[in-house]
Amino acid sequence: MGLKEKTSDLKKRMRNALKGGGDKAIKKQKAIGKLTARERIIALLDPKSFHEYDLFVEHAAKDFDMDKKYLPGDGVITGTGMLSGHPVCIYAQDFTVAGGSLGWMHAKKITKIMDHALKLKVPLIGINDSGGARIQEGVNSLAGYGEIFFRNTLASGVIPQISVILGPCAGGAVYSPALTDFVFVVENISKMFITGPEVIKTVLGEEISMEALGGARVHCETTGNAHFFARTEEECFSQIKNLVSYIPWNNKRKAEKFPKKSPKTRTYNIENIIPADAREPYDVRDIIKALSDDSLFLEIMELFAQNIVIGFGRMDGETVGFVANQPLVLAGVLDVDSSDKAARFIRYCDAFNIPLVTLVDLPGYLPGADQEHAGVIRHGAKILYAYSEATVPKITVIMRKAYGGGYIAMCSHHLRADFVFAWPTAEIAVMGPEGAANIIFRKEIFASDNPDEFRKQKVEEYKEKFANPYVAAAYGYIDAVIEPAETRKKLIRALEISKEKDISNPKKKHGIPPF
Ligand code: HXC
Repeated sequence: MGLKEKTSDLKKRMRNALKGGGDKAIKKQKAIGKLTARERIIALLDPKSFHEYDLFVEHAAKDFDMDKKYLPGDGVITGTGMLSGHPVCIYAQDFTVAGGSLGWMHAKKITKIMDHALKLKVPLIGINDSGGARIQEGVNSLAGYGEIFFRNTLASGVIPQISVILGPCAGGAVYSPALTDFVFVVENISKMFITGPEVIKTVLGEEISMEALGGARVHCETTGNAHFFARTEEECFSQIKNLVSYIPWNNKRKAEKFPKKSPKTRTYNIENIIPADAREPYDVRDIIKALSDDSLFLEIMELFAQNIVIGFGRMDGETVGFVANQPLVLAGVLDVDSSDKAARFIRYCDAFNIPLVTLVDLPGYLPGADQEHAGVIRHGAKILYAYSEATVPKITVIMRKAYGGGYIAMCSHHLRADFVFAWPTAEIAVMGPEGAANIIFRKEIFASDNPDEFRKQKVEEYKEKFANPYVAAAYGYIDAVIEPAETRKKLIRALEISKEKDISNPKKKHGIPPF
Protein backbone atom coordinates (compact mmCIF):
# COMPACT_ATOMS: atom_id res chain seq x y z
CA MET A 1 0.00 0.00 0.00
CA GLY A 2 1.21 3.50 -0.81
CA LEU A 3 0.64 6.62 1.31
CA LYS A 4 -2.78 7.25 -0.21
CA GLU A 5 -4.01 3.72 0.46
CA LYS A 6 -2.52 3.70 3.96
CA THR A 7 -4.19 7.03 4.74
CA SER A 8 -7.51 5.77 3.51
CA ASP A 9 -7.03 2.58 5.57
CA LEU A 10 -6.36 4.79 8.63
CA LYS A 11 -9.54 6.74 7.96
CA LYS A 12 -11.52 3.52 7.65
CA ARG A 13 -10.13 2.24 10.95
CA MET A 14 -10.93 5.55 12.60
CA ARG A 15 -14.50 5.57 11.28
CA ASN A 16 -14.95 2.08 12.64
CA ALA A 17 -13.59 2.98 16.09
CA LEU A 18 -15.58 6.21 16.23
CA LYS A 19 -18.86 4.30 15.87
CA GLY A 20 -18.67 3.40 19.56
CA GLY A 21 -21.19 0.77 20.57
CA GLY A 22 -23.27 1.19 17.40
CA ASP A 23 -26.58 2.77 16.48
CA LYS A 24 -28.79 0.68 18.76
CA ALA A 25 -26.79 1.38 21.90
CA ILE A 26 -26.46 5.08 21.00
CA LYS A 27 -30.23 5.32 20.48
CA LYS A 28 -30.78 3.80 23.93
CA GLN A 29 -28.33 6.28 25.45
CA LYS A 30 -30.09 9.25 23.82
CA ALA A 31 -33.56 8.04 24.79
CA ILE A 32 -32.77 8.77 28.44
CA GLY A 33 -31.44 12.27 27.79
CA LYS A 34 -27.79 11.29 27.71
CA LEU A 35 -25.21 12.47 25.18
CA THR A 36 -22.63 10.00 23.94
CA ALA A 37 -19.17 10.08 25.50
CA ARG A 38 -17.57 11.84 22.53
CA GLU A 39 -20.42 14.37 22.29
CA ARG A 40 -19.92 15.14 25.96
CA ILE A 41 -16.26 15.90 25.51
CA ILE A 42 -16.97 18.09 22.49
CA ALA A 43 -19.77 19.94 24.32
CA LEU A 44 -17.58 20.57 27.36
CA LEU A 45 -14.28 21.59 25.80
CA ASP A 46 -13.48 24.72 23.81
CA PRO A 47 -14.38 24.27 20.10
CA LYS A 48 -12.00 22.12 18.07
CA SER A 49 -9.60 21.78 21.01
CA PHE A 50 -9.99 18.04 21.70
CA HIS A 51 -7.16 15.71 20.70
CA GLU A 52 -7.99 12.07 21.22
CA TYR A 53 -5.35 9.46 22.08
CA ASP A 54 -5.41 5.67 22.23
CA LEU A 55 -8.36 5.40 19.86
CA PHE A 56 -7.09 2.02 18.70
CA VAL A 57 -6.58 0.47 22.12
CA GLU A 58 -8.31 -2.89 22.37
CA HIS A 59 -8.98 -5.24 25.23
CA ALA A 60 -6.98 -8.43 25.49
CA ALA A 61 -9.48 -10.49 27.47
CA LYS A 62 -10.20 -14.04 26.36
CA ASP A 63 -12.64 -15.60 28.82
CA PHE A 64 -16.41 -15.73 28.31
CA ASP A 65 -16.00 -15.31 24.53
CA MET A 66 -14.41 -11.92 25.00
CA ASP A 67 -11.82 -12.83 22.37
CA LYS A 68 -14.63 -12.67 19.79
CA LYS A 69 -15.75 -9.17 20.85
CA TYR A 70 -14.48 -5.88 19.44
CA LEU A 71 -14.98 -3.07 21.94
CA PRO A 72 -14.05 0.25 20.23
CA GLY A 73 -11.54 2.16 22.33
CA ASP A 74 -12.28 -0.39 25.05
CA GLY A 75 -15.21 1.72 26.21
CA VAL A 76 -13.41 4.90 27.18
CA ILE A 77 -12.30 8.00 25.29
CA THR A 78 -9.20 9.87 26.45
CA GLY A 79 -7.34 12.96 25.35
CA THR A 80 -6.37 16.55 25.96
CA GLY A 81 -8.11 19.83 25.22
CA MET A 82 -8.81 23.33 26.39
CA LEU A 83 -11.51 24.29 28.84
CA SER A 84 -12.33 28.00 29.08
CA GLY A 85 -8.79 28.59 27.85
CA HIS A 86 -7.24 26.17 30.39
CA PRO A 87 -5.40 23.07 29.15
CA VAL A 88 -6.92 19.87 30.57
CA CYS A 89 -6.62 16.10 30.35
CA ILE A 90 -9.95 14.33 30.03
CA TYR A 91 -11.54 10.91 29.84
CA ALA A 92 -15.14 9.87 29.25
CA GLN A 93 -16.46 6.37 29.69
CA ASP A 94 -18.57 5.20 26.76
CA PHE A 95 -21.63 3.38 28.09
CA THR A 96 -22.55 2.26 24.56
CA VAL A 97 -19.50 -0.03 24.59
CA ALA A 98 -20.01 -2.91 27.05
CA GLY A 99 -21.80 -0.54 29.42
CA GLY A 100 -18.62 1.53 29.84
CA SER A 101 -17.42 -1.32 32.05
CA LEU A 102 -13.85 -1.08 33.26
CA GLY A 103 -11.48 -3.75 31.99
CA TRP A 104 -7.69 -3.75 32.18
CA MET A 105 -6.99 -1.82 28.94
CA HIS A 106 -9.85 0.60 29.70
CA ALA A 107 -8.16 1.29 33.04
CA LYS A 108 -4.75 1.59 31.33
CA LYS A 109 -6.14 4.32 29.08
CA ILE A 110 -7.47 6.20 32.10
CA THR A 111 -4.29 5.84 34.14
CA LYS A 112 -2.19 6.93 31.16
CA ILE A 113 -4.13 10.18 30.81
CA MET A 114 -4.00 10.64 34.60
CA ASP A 115 -0.21 10.27 34.46
CA HIS A 116 -0.11 12.89 31.69
CA ALA A 117 -2.23 15.29 33.75
CA LEU A 118 0.03 14.92 36.77
CA LYS A 119 3.21 15.22 34.71
CA LEU A 120 1.98 18.19 32.66
CA LYS A 121 0.38 19.78 35.78
CA VAL A 122 -3.03 20.37 34.23
CA PRO A 123 -6.52 19.63 35.59
CA LEU A 124 -7.99 16.17 35.10
CA ILE A 125 -11.64 15.73 34.18
CA GLY A 126 -13.24 12.29 34.39
CA ILE A 127 -16.71 11.65 32.95
CA ASN A 128 -18.09 8.53 34.59
CA ASP A 129 -20.79 6.45 32.90
CA SER A 130 -20.15 2.81 33.62
CA GLY A 131 -21.53 -0.49 34.86
CA GLY A 132 -18.38 -0.83 37.02
CA ALA A 133 -15.77 -3.55 37.01
CA ARG A 134 -15.96 -5.56 33.76
CA ILE A 135 -17.18 -8.83 35.14
CA GLN A 136 -15.51 -10.95 32.44
CA GLU A 137 -12.07 -9.58 33.30
CA GLY A 138 -12.19 -10.50 36.97
CA VAL A 139 -9.30 -9.36 39.12
CA ASN A 140 -7.77 -7.34 36.26
CA SER A 141 -10.71 -4.94 36.52
CA LEU A 142 -10.15 -4.61 40.24
CA ALA A 143 -6.46 -3.99 39.62
CA GLY A 144 -7.44 -1.25 37.18
CA TYR A 145 -9.54 0.51 39.82
CA GLY A 146 -6.74 0.26 42.34
CA GLU A 147 -4.34 1.92 39.89
CA ILE A 148 -6.84 4.75 39.37
CA PHE A 149 -7.43 5.32 43.11
CA PHE A 150 -3.69 5.39 43.72
CA ARG A 151 -3.19 8.10 41.10
CA ASN A 152 -6.21 10.09 42.36
CA THR A 153 -4.50 10.18 45.73
CA LEU A 154 -1.08 11.22 44.41
CA ALA A 155 -2.64 13.93 42.25
CA SER A 156 -4.69 15.29 45.16
CA GLY A 157 -3.63 18.83 45.98
CA VAL A 158 -1.31 18.99 42.96
CA ILE A 159 -3.77 19.33 40.07
CA PRO A 160 -7.52 19.96 40.22
CA GLN A 161 -9.47 16.72 39.74
CA ILE A 162 -13.06 17.00 38.57
CA SER A 163 -15.49 14.07 38.39
CA VAL A 164 -18.64 14.24 36.33
CA ILE A 165 -21.17 11.49 36.99
CA LEU A 166 -23.28 11.07 33.85
CA GLY A 167 -24.74 7.62 34.29
CA PRO A 168 -24.21 4.74 36.66
CA CYS A 169 -21.13 4.81 38.88
CA ALA A 170 -21.52 1.62 40.85
CA GLY A 171 -19.56 -0.46 43.32
CA GLY A 172 -15.98 0.45 44.10
CA ALA A 173 -16.01 2.74 41.04
CA VAL A 174 -17.46 5.46 43.26
CA TYR A 175 -14.19 5.79 45.10
CA SER A 176 -12.42 7.53 42.26
CA PRO A 177 -14.89 10.46 42.32
CA ALA A 178 -14.80 10.40 46.11
CA LEU A 179 -11.03 10.95 45.99
CA THR A 180 -11.33 13.91 43.61
CA ASP A 181 -11.98 17.57 44.40
CA PHE A 182 -15.34 18.32 42.80
CA VAL A 183 -18.15 15.95 41.84
CA PHE A 184 -20.83 17.10 39.38
CA VAL A 185 -24.18 15.28 39.08
CA VAL A 186 -27.25 15.60 36.86
CA GLU A 187 -30.84 14.94 37.88
CA ASN A 188 -32.24 11.59 36.68
CA ILE A 189 -28.92 10.69 34.99
CA SER A 190 -26.33 10.29 37.77
CA LYS A 191 -26.52 7.19 39.97
CA MET A 192 -23.83 6.48 42.55
CA PHE A 193 -23.86 3.65 45.05
CA ILE A 194 -21.65 0.95 46.48
CA THR A 195 -24.32 -1.73 46.39
CA GLY A 196 -27.34 -1.36 44.11
CA PRO A 197 -31.04 -1.92 44.81
CA GLU A 198 -30.85 -5.64 43.86
CA VAL A 199 -28.16 -6.41 46.42
CA ILE A 200 -29.92 -4.37 49.07
CA LYS A 201 -33.12 -6.31 48.43
CA THR A 202 -31.34 -9.66 48.64
CA VAL A 203 -29.27 -8.89 51.72
CA LEU A 204 -31.59 -6.64 53.71
CA GLY A 205 -35.01 -7.26 52.17
CA GLU A 206 -35.41 -3.51 51.61
CA GLU A 207 -36.80 -2.10 48.39
CA ILE A 208 -35.48 1.19 47.08
CA SER A 209 -35.24 2.75 43.63
CA MET A 210 -31.87 3.66 42.11
CA GLU A 211 -32.80 7.34 42.18
CA ALA A 212 -33.78 7.26 45.86
CA LEU A 213 -30.67 5.27 46.72
CA GLY A 214 -28.01 7.20 44.85
CA GLY A 215 -29.56 9.79 42.55
CA ALA A 216 -28.20 13.29 42.02
CA ARG A 217 -30.37 14.96 44.64
CA VAL A 218 -29.49 12.39 47.32
CA HIS A 219 -25.77 13.03 46.84
CA CYS A 220 -26.20 16.81 46.86
CA GLU A 221 -28.61 17.09 49.77
CA THR A 222 -28.02 14.08 52.02
CA THR A 223 -24.64 12.42 51.60
CA GLY A 224 -22.57 15.44 50.58
CA ASN A 225 -20.72 13.26 48.04
CA ALA A 226 -21.52 15.63 45.18
CA HIS A 227 -20.76 19.33 44.96
CA PHE A 228 -22.78 20.61 42.00
CA PHE A 229 -26.34 19.73 40.96
CA ALA A 230 -27.61 20.30 37.41
CA ARG A 231 -30.86 19.54 35.64
CA THR A 232 -29.30 18.75 32.27
CA GLU A 233 -25.91 17.74 30.94
CA GLU A 234 -25.60 21.15 29.21
CA GLU A 235 -26.17 22.95 32.52
CA CYS A 236 -23.59 20.69 34.13
CA PHE A 237 -20.99 21.56 31.48
CA SER A 238 -21.51 25.29 31.95
CA GLN A 239 -21.08 24.82 35.72
CA ILE A 240 -17.74 23.07 35.11
CA LYS A 241 -16.56 25.88 32.83
CA ASN A 242 -17.51 28.43 35.48
CA LEU A 243 -15.68 26.52 38.22
CA VAL A 244 -12.51 26.18 36.17
CA SER A 245 -12.39 29.96 35.68
CA TYR A 246 -11.91 30.38 39.47
CA ILE A 247 -9.16 27.84 40.11
CA PRO A 248 -5.51 27.58 39.07
CA TRP A 249 -4.26 24.82 36.74
CA ASN A 250 -2.04 23.41 39.44
CA ASN A 251 -0.75 24.02 42.95
CA LYS A 252 2.22 26.08 41.75
CA ARG A 253 0.06 28.68 40.05
CA LYS A 254 -2.46 31.29 41.05
CA ALA A 255 -5.96 31.45 39.62
CA GLU A 256 -6.39 33.56 36.52
CA LYS A 257 -6.88 37.28 37.22
CA PHE A 258 -10.04 38.88 35.86
CA PRO A 259 -10.80 42.58 35.24
CA LYS A 260 -11.85 44.34 38.47
CA LYS A 261 -15.56 45.01 38.86
CA SER A 262 -17.53 46.67 41.65
CA PRO A 263 -20.38 44.79 43.34
CA LYS A 264 -23.96 45.58 42.37
CA THR A 265 -24.52 47.71 45.44
CA ARG A 266 -28.03 48.75 44.49
CA THR A 267 -29.15 45.14 44.89
CA TYR A 268 -26.63 44.04 47.52
CA ASN A 269 -26.05 46.70 50.13
CA ILE A 270 -24.69 45.42 53.45
CA GLU A 271 -26.49 48.00 55.54
CA ASN A 272 -29.82 46.97 54.02
CA ILE A 273 -29.12 43.25 54.29
CA ILE A 274 -28.39 43.12 58.04
CA PRO A 275 -31.67 43.37 59.99
CA ALA A 276 -31.94 46.00 62.73
CA ASP A 277 -32.91 43.30 65.24
CA ALA A 278 -29.82 41.20 66.02
CA ARG A 279 -32.00 38.10 66.44
CA GLU A 280 -33.41 38.29 62.90
CA PRO A 281 -31.70 36.09 60.33
CA TYR A 282 -30.45 37.21 56.90
CA ASP A 283 -29.02 35.43 53.90
CA VAL A 284 -25.22 35.55 54.20
CA ARG A 285 -24.95 34.91 50.44
CA ASP A 286 -26.25 38.46 49.97
CA ILE A 287 -23.36 39.73 52.10
CA ILE A 288 -20.91 37.74 49.96
CA LYS A 289 -22.47 39.24 46.84
CA ALA A 290 -22.17 42.71 48.39
CA LEU A 291 -18.44 42.07 48.77
CA SER A 292 -17.47 40.23 45.60
CA ASP A 293 -16.67 41.65 42.16
CA ASP A 294 -19.79 42.07 40.03
CA SER A 295 -21.70 40.40 42.91
CA LEU A 296 -20.76 37.01 41.47
CA PHE A 297 -20.53 34.04 43.80
CA LEU A 298 -20.05 30.42 42.77
CA GLU A 299 -21.56 28.47 45.63
CA ILE A 300 -20.27 24.93 46.21
CA MET A 301 -22.38 22.23 47.89
CA GLU A 302 -25.33 24.61 47.85
CA LEU A 303 -27.81 21.94 48.95
CA PHE A 304 -25.78 20.24 51.70
CA ALA A 305 -25.24 21.46 55.29
CA GLN A 306 -26.77 24.78 54.39
CA ASN A 307 -25.86 26.23 57.79
CA ILE A 308 -22.48 27.00 56.27
CA VAL A 309 -21.88 28.60 52.87
CA ILE A 310 -18.71 27.96 50.86
CA GLY A 311 -17.66 29.00 47.39
CA PHE A 312 -15.59 31.22 45.16
CA GLY A 313 -15.87 34.88 44.34
CA ARG A 314 -13.40 37.49 43.16
CA MET A 315 -12.13 40.62 44.87
CA ASP A 316 -10.36 43.14 42.68
CA GLY A 317 -10.18 40.48 39.98
CA GLU A 318 -8.58 37.74 42.11
CA THR A 319 -10.23 34.53 43.29
CA VAL A 320 -11.02 34.21 46.99
CA GLY A 321 -12.66 31.32 48.85
CA PHE A 322 -15.56 32.45 51.04
CA VAL A 323 -16.52 30.49 54.16
CA ALA A 324 -19.55 31.96 55.91
CA ASN A 325 -21.98 30.92 58.62
CA GLN A 326 -25.54 31.05 57.30
CA PRO A 327 -27.89 32.59 59.92
CA LEU A 328 -30.89 31.51 57.79
CA VAL A 329 -30.31 27.81 58.59
CA LEU A 330 -30.00 26.58 62.19
CA ALA A 331 -28.78 30.08 63.08
CA GLY A 332 -25.52 29.19 61.29
CA VAL A 333 -24.28 26.68 63.92
CA LEU A 334 -21.37 24.39 63.26
CA ASP A 335 -22.25 20.71 63.28
CA VAL A 336 -20.88 17.46 61.88
CA ASP A 337 -21.79 18.10 58.25
CA SER A 338 -21.01 21.81 58.11
CA SER A 339 -17.60 21.18 59.71
CA ASP A 340 -16.79 18.53 57.09
CA LYS A 341 -18.01 20.78 54.30
CA ALA A 342 -15.99 23.80 55.42
CA ALA A 343 -12.83 21.89 56.38
CA ARG A 344 -12.51 20.23 52.99
CA PHE A 345 -13.01 23.52 51.19
CA ILE A 346 -10.44 25.30 53.37
CA ARG A 347 -7.91 22.58 52.52
CA TYR A 348 -8.75 22.91 48.82
CA CYS A 349 -8.15 26.67 48.89
CA ASP A 350 -4.94 26.22 50.84
CA ALA A 351 -3.62 23.58 48.42
CA PHE A 352 -4.36 25.80 45.41
CA ASN A 353 -3.17 29.19 46.68
CA ILE A 354 -6.62 30.72 47.06
CA PRO A 355 -6.93 33.25 49.94
CA LEU A 356 -9.69 32.63 52.45
CA VAL A 357 -12.28 35.17 53.55
CA THR A 358 -14.30 34.00 56.55
CA LEU A 359 -17.57 35.68 57.54
CA VAL A 360 -18.63 34.91 61.10
CA ASP A 361 -22.08 34.90 62.68
CA LEU A 362 -22.77 31.78 64.72
CA PRO A 363 -23.93 30.76 68.16
CA GLY A 364 -21.30 27.96 68.40
CA TYR A 365 -21.36 24.20 67.87
CA LEU A 366 -24.79 22.52 67.77
CA PRO A 367 -25.64 20.89 71.12
CA GLY A 368 -27.48 17.56 71.45
CA ALA A 369 -26.97 13.83 71.85
CA ASP A 370 -27.46 13.29 68.10
CA GLN A 371 -24.50 15.49 67.27
CA GLU A 372 -22.32 14.19 70.09
CA HIS A 373 -22.98 10.60 69.01
CA ALA A 374 -22.46 11.44 65.35
CA GLY A 375 -18.95 12.55 66.31
CA VAL A 376 -19.17 16.34 66.45
CA ILE A 377 -15.93 16.32 68.43
CA ARG A 378 -14.01 14.56 65.66
CA HIS A 379 -15.77 16.32 62.78
CA GLY A 380 -15.72 19.72 64.48
CA ALA A 381 -11.97 19.35 64.97
CA LYS A 382 -11.49 19.17 61.19
CA ILE A 383 -12.30 22.85 60.77
CA LEU A 384 -9.78 23.77 63.51
CA TYR A 385 -7.18 21.62 61.82
CA ALA A 386 -7.88 22.97 58.35
CA TYR A 387 -7.71 26.63 59.35
CA SER A 388 -4.66 26.15 61.59
CA GLU A 389 -2.75 24.33 58.89
CA ALA A 390 -3.69 26.72 56.05
CA THR A 391 -0.86 29.07 55.06
CA VAL A 392 -2.72 31.10 52.42
CA PRO A 393 -3.85 34.62 53.39
CA LYS A 394 -6.70 34.31 55.88
CA ILE A 395 -8.96 37.30 56.56
CA THR A 396 -11.91 37.14 58.95
CA VAL A 397 -14.87 39.42 59.49
CA ILE A 398 -16.95 38.95 62.63
CA MET A 399 -20.36 40.34 61.74
CA ARG A 400 -22.56 39.50 64.70
CA LYS A 401 -22.34 36.47 67.00
CA ALA A 402 -19.03 34.69 67.60
CA TYR A 403 -19.71 32.57 70.63
CA GLY A 404 -17.66 29.89 72.30
CA GLY A 405 -15.84 27.34 70.16
CA GLY A 406 -17.43 28.95 67.13
CA TYR A 407 -15.39 32.12 67.73
CA ILE A 408 -12.16 30.14 67.77
CA ALA A 409 -13.06 27.79 64.92
CA MET A 410 -14.10 30.45 62.41
CA CYS A 411 -10.55 31.51 61.64
CA SER A 412 -9.78 33.57 64.72
CA HIS A 413 -6.35 35.10 65.30
CA HIS A 414 -5.61 32.11 67.50
CA LEU A 415 -5.69 29.87 64.38
CA ARG A 416 -3.44 32.43 62.68
CA ALA A 417 -5.83 34.58 60.72
CA ASP A 418 -3.78 37.40 59.22
CA PHE A 419 -6.41 40.06 59.83
CA VAL A 420 -9.58 39.91 61.91
CA PHE A 421 -12.11 42.68 61.49
CA ALA A 422 -15.30 43.10 63.50
CA TRP A 423 -18.40 45.12 62.90
CA PRO A 424 -19.72 47.20 65.81
CA THR A 425 -22.57 44.64 65.96
CA ALA A 426 -20.12 41.81 66.78
CA GLU A 427 -20.70 39.88 70.00
CA ILE A 428 -17.66 37.92 71.06
CA ALA A 429 -18.20 35.87 74.20
CA VAL A 430 -18.01 32.42 75.71
CA MET A 431 -21.74 32.00 75.13
CA GLY A 432 -24.92 33.98 74.38
CA PRO A 433 -26.09 36.51 77.03
CA GLU A 434 -29.21 34.49 77.99
CA GLY A 435 -27.31 31.27 78.66
CA ALA A 436 -24.46 33.10 80.38
CA ALA A 437 -26.76 35.05 82.75
CA ASN A 438 -28.65 31.88 83.64
CA ILE A 439 -25.43 30.18 84.68
CA ILE A 440 -23.49 32.88 86.47
CA PHE A 441 -26.49 34.41 88.26
CA ARG A 442 -28.44 31.20 88.84
CA LYS A 443 -28.53 31.53 92.64
CA GLU A 444 -29.39 35.23 92.56
CA ILE A 445 -32.15 34.68 89.97
CA PHE A 446 -33.61 31.89 92.11
CA ALA A 447 -33.51 34.02 95.28
CA SER A 448 -34.99 37.10 93.64
CA ASP A 449 -38.56 38.30 94.29
CA ASN A 450 -39.04 38.78 90.57
CA PRO A 451 -36.81 36.20 88.83
CA ASP A 452 -37.88 37.16 85.30
CA GLU A 453 -37.16 40.82 85.78
CA PHE A 454 -33.89 40.05 87.57
CA ARG A 455 -32.80 37.70 84.80
CA LYS A 456 -33.61 40.34 82.18
CA GLN A 457 -31.52 42.86 84.07
CA LYS A 458 -28.56 40.50 84.28
CA VAL A 459 -28.82 39.58 80.58
CA GLU A 460 -28.65 43.29 79.76
CA GLU A 461 -25.69 43.73 82.10
CA TYR A 462 -23.86 40.83 80.45
CA LYS A 463 -24.66 42.17 76.97
CA GLU A 464 -23.37 45.58 77.92
CA LYS A 465 -20.14 44.12 79.27
CA PHE A 466 -19.30 41.32 76.85
CA ALA A 467 -21.61 41.21 73.82
CA ASN A 468 -19.56 43.65 71.79
CA PRO A 469 -16.29 43.65 69.88
CA TYR A 470 -14.43 45.99 72.23
CA VAL A 471 -13.31 43.51 74.91
CA ALA A 472 -11.69 41.33 72.20
CA ALA A 473 -10.32 44.46 70.53
CA ALA A 474 -8.78 45.54 73.84
CA TYR A 475 -6.76 42.32 73.89
CA GLY A 476 -5.75 42.75 70.25
CA TYR A 477 -7.77 39.71 69.12
CA ILE A 478 -9.55 42.02 66.68
CA ASP A 479 -7.36 44.17 64.45
CA ALA A 480 -9.98 46.77 63.66
CA VAL A 481 -13.61 47.45 64.41
CA ILE A 482 -14.95 48.63 61.08
CA GLU A 483 -18.14 50.05 59.66
CA PRO A 484 -19.97 47.34 57.72
CA ALA A 485 -20.05 49.53 54.60
CA GLU A 486 -16.23 49.60 54.61
CA THR A 487 -15.84 45.82 54.60
CA ARG A 488 -14.98 45.33 50.92
CA LYS A 489 -12.42 48.11 51.01
CA LYS A 490 -10.78 46.67 54.13
CA LEU A 491 -10.76 43.14 52.72
CA ILE A 492 -9.21 44.21 49.43
CA ARG A 493 -6.51 46.14 51.28
CA ALA A 494 -5.80 43.17 53.55
CA LEU A 495 -5.66 40.77 50.60
CA GLU A 496 -3.36 43.08 48.72
CA ILE A 497 -0.90 43.43 51.57
CA SER A 498 -0.94 39.62 52.09
CA LYS A 499 -0.06 38.78 48.49
CA GLU A 500 3.53 37.84 49.21
CA LYS A 501 2.66 35.94 52.38
CA ASP A 502 5.09 33.07 52.64
CA ILE A 503 5.03 30.97 55.77
CA SER A 504 5.49 27.28 56.34
CA ASN A 505 4.49 24.87 59.05
CA PRO A 506 6.95 22.62 60.91
CA LYS A 507 8.60 20.12 58.58
CA LYS A 508 6.96 16.71 58.75
CA LYS A 509 5.98 13.83 56.50
CA HIS A 510 2.35 14.79 56.98
CA GLY A 511 -0.01 15.65 59.78
CA ILE A 512 -2.75 13.41 61.11
CA PRO A 513 -5.98 15.32 60.58
CA PRO A 514 -9.11 14.09 62.37
CA PHE A 515 -10.36 12.25 59.23
C1 HXC B 1 -19.52 -6.22 31.90
C2 HXC B 1 -21.39 -4.93 31.67
C3 HXC B 1 -21.29 -4.50 33.01
C4 HXC B 1 -20.19 -4.99 33.78
C5 HXC B 1 -23.00 -3.56 32.14
N1 HXC B 1 -22.48 -4.33 31.20
N2 HXC B 1 -22.30 -3.65 33.28
N3 HXC B 1 -20.51 -5.78 31.13
N4 HXC B 1 -19.34 -5.84 33.19
N5 HXC B 1 -19.98 -4.60 35.03
C6 HXC B 1 -22.96 -4.51 29.83
C7 HXC B 1 -24.24 -5.29 29.75
O1 HXC B 1 -23.98 -6.66 29.78
C8 HXC B 1 -24.79 -4.80 28.44
O2 HXC B 1 -24.08 -5.46 27.43
C9 HXC B 1 -24.37 -3.35 28.39
O3 HXC B 1 -23.29 -3.24 29.31
C10 HXC B 1 -25.46 -2.40 28.83
O4 HXC B 1 -25.95 -2.83 30.09
P1 HXC B 1 -27.50 -2.96 30.40
O5 HXC B 1 -27.64 -3.77 31.62
O6 HXC B 1 -28.24 -3.40 29.17
O7 HXC B 1 -27.88 -1.44 30.68
P2 HXC B 1 -28.94 -0.85 31.69
O8 HXC B 1 -30.21 -1.60 31.60
O9 HXC B 1 -28.97 0.59 31.42
O10 HXC B 1 -28.33 -1.11 33.15
C11 HXC B 1 -27.14 -0.49 33.53
C12 HXC B 1 -26.62 -1.08 34.85
C13 HXC B 1 -26.52 -2.62 34.71
C14 HXC B 1 -27.54 -0.69 35.98
C15 HXC B 1 -25.25 -0.44 35.13
O11 HXC B 1 -25.80 -2.91 33.51
C16 HXC B 1 -25.82 -3.25 35.85
O12 HXC B 1 -26.40 -3.43 36.93
N6 HXC B 1 -24.56 -3.61 35.64
C17 HXC B 1 -23.75 -4.26 36.63
C18 HXC B 1 -23.38 -3.29 37.72
C19 HXC B 1 -22.47 -3.94 38.70
O13 HXC B 1 -22.89 -4.64 39.59
N7 HXC B 1 -21.17 -3.76 38.45
C20 HXC B 1 -20.11 -4.36 39.22
C21 HXC B 1 -19.98 -3.52 40.45
S1 HXC B 1 -18.75 -4.17 41.48
P3 HXC B 1 -24.75 -5.85 26.02
O14 HXC B 1 -23.69 -6.64 25.34
O15 HXC B 1 -25.98 -6.61 26.33
O16 HXC B 1 -25.05 -4.54 25.36
C22 HXC B 1 -17.47 -3.28 41.06
C23 HXC B 1 -16.28 -3.63 41.88
C24 HXC B 1 -15.24 -2.57 41.72
O17 HXC B 1 -17.49 -2.44 40.25
C25 HXC B 1 -14.40 -2.58 42.92
C26 HXC B 1 -13.33 -1.58 42.81
C27 HXC B 1 -12.64 -1.38 44.13
